[in-house]
Amino acid sequence: MIRVDLRSDTVSHPSPEMRKAMYEAELGDDVYGDDPTTNALEAKAAEMLGKEAAVFVTSGTQSNLVAILAQAGRGDTILVGTKSHILNAEAGGASALGGVVIIPIAMNKRGTMDADAIRQAAAPRDHHKAPVSLLCLENTQNVAGGTALTPEEIKTMADAGREHGLRVHVDGARIFNAAVALEIPVAALATEVDTIGFCLSKGLACPIGGILAGDADVIVEARRWRKMLGAGMRQVGVIAAAGIVALDTMVDRMADDHANARKIGNALAEMPGIVIDLASVETNIVRFGVPMHKGNEIAARLKAEGVLINGGDSDLRMVPHYGIDSEDVNIAINAMDKVMAEVAG
Ligand SMILES: Cc1ncc(COP(=O)(O)O)c(C=O)c1O
Repeated sequence: MIRVDLRSDTVSHPSPEMRKAMYEAELGDDVYGDDPTTNALEAKAAEMLGKEAAVFVTSGTQSNLVAILAQAGRGDTILVGTKSHILNAEAGGASALGGVVIIPIAMNKRGTMDADAIRQAAAPRDHHKAPVSLLCLENTQNVAGGTALTPEEIKTMADAGREHGLRVHVDGARIFNAAVALEIPVAALATEVDTIGFCLSKGLACPIGGILAGDADVIVEARRWRKMLGAGMRQVGVIAAAGIVALDTMVDRMADDHANARKIGNALAEMPGIVIDLASVETNIVRFGVPMHKGNEIAARLKAEGVLINGGDSDLRMVPHYGIDSEDVNIAINAMDKVMAEVAG
């Protein structure tokens, strides 16, 4: 029996308050723009992010995709981090559907890109090259361990792109985790960029959905692309209602997930055979390696103990989320302890 699921924050379920709000949501046809609950969610999200407008999307992937489609034309180039979700985990949508060339920029350990590398890649080039129009950042940076990039780090990268006229998008799938960890308003992480997206279905615990926010014009464009992707949704207030509750009740709560992640990280650091960089555990993601063993085997053994985690042979991941309490954390730590003792022989 599975007792604790730490594969991702995406496995979190909506709270009773969200389910009630979904049941009672006032509805209209959002393709006509008259679903009051969706309109309220979009207005609330835009306000929180300090942007003019926002559009509800089906997922984080779709948020990134419509941001790219709305800001980079076919044959344009976009700059993304080598470890970015857009490059590595969105099925190549930007290239396949947007027809853009993707130039990956090396990332440092924390998941930022060197400003000079951005400048160099963004500089105007002759007619042999595809023009560069968009820089995509990611905050928190998932593969770096959920690092929370600061407003200064964002500004340094955004300024480098802007020097050559690039627009800037942030994949903020977990932007509220970053804001909570940095103890700043989320809008402070959005001021220097043109568009920013976030997921409702991760630490915010909604069943489905995400947001893209930006100026009014770019969001009009994003809506057109969303429609083309078949995601003009009708009485979508049934889902948006959960989003409103999430923005009211799930943001401050993320501090618990971060504390649970630190507790797990500290315990793992004590276990022989585990390599972990505790400095990277800034939010709700705990990444670690088991260099003497096969990661998949460790994950399989943990599963037999009732604990699910994510990862392949070299990089394993645990992600506490809404619904994981300190008892669950203890179960996961004890199971890991047992498994590591077993494989040590
Ligand atoms: C950094 C990042 N961006 C985007 C996404 C995409 O979100 P979704 O799975 O909702 O499409 C994820 C999902 O894990 C993510 O970690």
